[in-house]
Amino acid sequence: MKLLVTNIGRIVGIDSTDRLRVCGAEMNRLETFTDAWLLVDNGRFAAFGRMEELGEIAADRVVDAEGGMLFPSFCDSHTHLVYAGSREREFLDKINGLSYEEIARRGGGILNSADLLHETSEDNLYLQAMERVREITAMGTGCVEIKSGYGLSTEDELKMLRVIRRIRETSPLEVRATFLGAHAVARAYRGRQGEYVDLICREMLPAVAAEGLADFVDVFCDEGFFTVEETACILRAGRKLGLRGKIHANELAVSGGVQVGVEYDALSVDHLERMGAEEIEALHGAVTMPTLLPGAAFFLGMSYPPARAMIEAGLGVALASDYNPGSSPSGNMRMVVALASIRMKMTPAEAINAATLNGAYAMGLSHDYGSITLGKVANFFITNPMPSVEFFSYAYQTPLIRQVFLKGGLISRF
Ligand code: NIG
Ligand code: FE
Repeated sequence: MKLLVTNIGRIVGIDSTDRLRVCGAEMNRLETFTDAWLLVDNGRFAAFGRMEELGEIAADRVVDAEGGMLFPSFCDSHTHLVYAGSREREFLDKINGLSYEEIARRGGGILNSADLLHETSEDNLYLQAMERVREITAMGTGCVEIKSGYGLSTEDELKMLRVIRRIRETSPLEVRATFLGAHAVARAYRGRQGEYVDLICREMLPAVAAEGLADFVDVFCDEGFFTVEETACILRAGRKLGLRGKIHANELAVSGGVQVGVEYDALSVDHLERMGAEEIEALHGAVTMPTLLPGAAFFLGMSYPPARAMIEAGLGVALASDYNPGSSPSGNMRMVVALASIRMKMTPAEAINAATLNGAYAMGLSHDYGSITLGKVANFFITNPMPSVEFFSYAYQTPLIRQVFLKGGLISRF
């Protein structure tokens, strides 16, 4: 099956190297190619060239981009999009002055979502999550990581992970699953946090691994949640079962989560609203990708991660949505990319690299996804004609995405 796209105003996000991530000053380089055609063969990028040099190509299907731009799909490496119901009551609590931590301490927050999830059947949970999957697909996401963590019992964590597996089998997105039993201490274990951590290591993780339900293990390593020692314990248990770490770190306090993540070769450490020079230093030369979630900082009214200091120190950063009912009820990666520029002073080029190639890296997928590279899987979208690449971030609410293609096939047209 050969697909030919013609009359592309500009192909954005070309990478002719085989690098798996982009760091430091390189993040500001976004290779583009104007007045182009692009060929997809068997679901992968096969060739591109200048329109005026387009010869005879025997394609099964031809799509006219009508001068629009072609981007690699977003790679959203941090979401919790499998959840039951919604939490707008807490939204009101926050408007009335309660903080995220106060709501959690009163037994709301994550535990509230866990109660709702417990009452919801696996089929219903799947249907609710698929609405969100369709929503993010239309907004340009092509690869997504989804976490468990609203189960908090062996049975309900497995239920969530089975829903994620079903999404993986039935949606056109490339999906990776993360076990996040250590999202909060389950209600039944209140005051017995150590026993809950034991349950995670001795029962939940082996059960998850036995069914092959997760690619990664995550811990909410933060003030009021899990300690560095508990995080290390869970990372060691995960490692024995072949699961790499992806840590929630430094959202509420300088938690030590960055250092413990780096020590255990976590694939990413995420959030990072509270970062000091030591945390930046710890990430130097590490395999771990710092992942910033400006949608959560925006929704909770927190300070933003110091993206500029990190990039200027030579680090690569990824951007993700954190789509979840408590701190970021949106999976809109265009909004994330715009916030990165508006609030963290990342250039549009840096933000697009962070939301594509570096996001793919943070899911272990950048050998196959995250850039327009010959041989990679053809996940891309076509926009309306735009005056510049920067316009995509600048006109952040204008519906610019016109057609979405995943694995070389047309998914939706707008
Ligand atoms: O990444 N910080 C921890 N977990 C989520 C929020 C989960 C929730 O409030 O439901 C986050 O922000
Ligand atoms: Fe999160």
